[in-house]
Parts: sequence; structure tokens; C-alpha cells
Amino acid sequence: MSHRQPATPEHLRVLISRQQIEARLDELAAQIDDDYAKSERLVCVGVLKGSIFFLVDLMKRLKTPAVVDFFQTSSYGSGTKSGELRVRKDVDMSLRGQDVLLIEDIVDTGYTLRTVLDLLRFRGARSVRLCALLDKKEAREVEVPIDYCGFRIANEFVVGYGLDYNERYRNLDFIAVYEGPTE
Ligand code: IMP
Ligand code: MG
Repeated sequence: MSHRQPATPEHLRVLISRQQIEARLDELAAQIDDDYAKSERLVCVGVLKGSIFFLVDLMKRLKTPAVVDFFQTSSYGSGTKSGELRVRKDVDMSLRGQDVLLIEDIVDTGYTLRTVLDLLRFRGARSVRLCALLDKKEAREVEVPIDYCGFRIANEFVVGYGLDYNERYRNLDFIAVYEGPTE
């Protein structure tokens, strides 16, 4: 098979390997199964598009009965500041009385997740928790409690395993710091 994209282009610095991601997924799934042992079912809500690789791999490891739904936001203009967030796709399911696990790729400033969490709580869910693959703690501008966190990373721009730079690199099976040209 020919690879049109080298395994690790030189402008990508590997930060978290596939093996590290997989080991952490096992731990997170075990922890979630423990916490929801008494729950009849879990509604996993992925925030599109960045979370899908993480969501699929995590959900495959869960023993807790689970269903899946998606939510998508976009920001008006360039910023993601509070109040500038638009709902592009709402969840299809009713969340009333449900145990909801919101699954996101990365929490950066926190504006996106703060807004989404508030919106989902307003729907009358029994519980809403947040599972984020990455936490860029230093970049936080509004507080967002992360119940399940994959990895804490420094304030650098990362790609891979769902995360993109202008839609590229989502399908890398590792996470890397992007050190290439910026457009
Ligand atoms: P927040 O509202 O600032 O927390 O931004 C969250 C969103 O910004 C994430 O869901 C990502 O789509 C995007 N984002 C933030 N940091 C990065 C990064 O390092 N790489 C790729 N996307 C990022
Ligand atoms: Mg995102």
C-alpha cells in the first residue's frame, strides 16, 4: 500500500502516541463504567467533528449500555467568546431524565463547552458530565469542570486523533503539536 502522507510529517511533533492514547482509553472506560454501574443507560453526546475518533474508541470499550447522539456548534465571526456561539446541530434525542456524557476533543478557552453544558442541563437531564480527551488548562478563560480528562497538555496547537488544522490531520492515530506554516 502506498502512503501519500508520510507517517509523521516533519512539521508535526508527536506529543501523545497511539499506544498512550489506547492505554488511557482503557482507564477512562473502566472509570466511566464504575461510575455509571447503577445507570440504566448512558447517552453519549459527541461534539462534532473533533470528538468522533475519541468517542468511537471510548464507546467501544464501555460495558455500560450506551446510545450515541451528536451536537455541533460554530462561532459567529472569528471568536468563540461567550454569546458568539451558534448551534449548528442539536441532539436528536430527548435528554429529559437521562444520564448524559458529553464527549469533546479539547477544552481550550472553555467558551464552547460552557455554553453546550448549560444548554444540555437546561433540557432536564438527570445528570450531565463532561469527558474531554485533552485539557489545555493554561488557556482557560471560563471555568469548565472536566469529569473525565484524557491528558493535560501545554498551551500549544495540536492536531490528530480528531483534531484538525483547517480540517486536515484529523485521521492521524496520534496527537502532535503543529509546527508548520500558518495560513
Ligand atoms: P474553546 O471554546 O476555546 O474551549 O475551544 C474549543 C474548540 O476549539 C475545540 O473543540 C477545538 O475544535 C478547537 N481547538 C482548541 N484548541 C485546539 C487545538 O490545539 N487544536 C485543534 N483544535 C483546537
Ligand atoms: Mg471541537
